[in-house]
Amino acid sequence: MNEIIENIKNRRNTKNFENKDVLDEDIKTILDAGTWAPNHRDTQPWRFVVIKKNDSIREKIIDGIIDLKEKDSGNNQTDEQITSIKNSVMTKPVLIFVYSLIDDNPIISEENYGAVCCAIQNISLAATSIGLATGWSTGKISQINNLDKLFELEENLKIVGVLTVGFPKSQPSKKRKNVEDVTKWI
Ligand SMILES: Cc1cc2nc3c(=O)[nH]c(=O)nc-3n(C[C@H](O)[C@H](O)[C@H](O)COP(=O)(O)O)c2cc1C
Repeated sequence: MNEIIENIKNRRNTKNFENKDVLDEDIKTILDAGTWAPNHRDTQPWRFVVIKKNDSIREKIIDGIIDLKEKDSGNNQTDEQITSIKNSVMTKPVLIFVYSLIDDNPIISEENYGAVCCAIQNISLAATSIGLATGWSTGKISQINNLDKLFELEENLKIVGVLTVGFPKSQPSKKRKNVEDVTKWI
């Protein structure tokens, strides 16, 4: 199998990471790979916010997740639940919030979203190729209110996902349907 196809098949969405720092250089390398994704009309619609492990902004992210969960459930989070959210956010090696530019024309916004998804795949494949792994989340961490203000983002942006990047500790095994089952040849 050639290297690219092997890399595509070896990439796994990862949640379990080693407690090991990721080099800024490696983050720059994989984000650069992201920016080589296809994009229509040269909009280059990807925007990234990188949050390293010990940055105090993580406290605000924790508060935002607690807030969302309390609004969703109508109940205060228990001490145990709060500890679990704190552990989950604090132990993630590097967080990359990935955004897509919203355009006045909804067709362009949709193209931009597609391009940013391609960028995320490039980032994930580049990470895999240098021994890192990524986990893509569209869960609570990506839904926190007023994140754009917290990050001082000035453009009109849609969040596409939050990537956790780090050295994988364990990875799930995944299966895919046979290509024959999802393809019609005419
Ligand atoms: C748009 C999108 C959103 C996703 N959001 C989440 C998420 O919120 N939580 C999660 O655990 N995985 C999320 N994933 C990862 C998928 O669950 C994962 O890709 C799938 O289980 C297949 O596994 P694989 O990527 O290792 O092949 C998301 C993937 C995509 C494409």
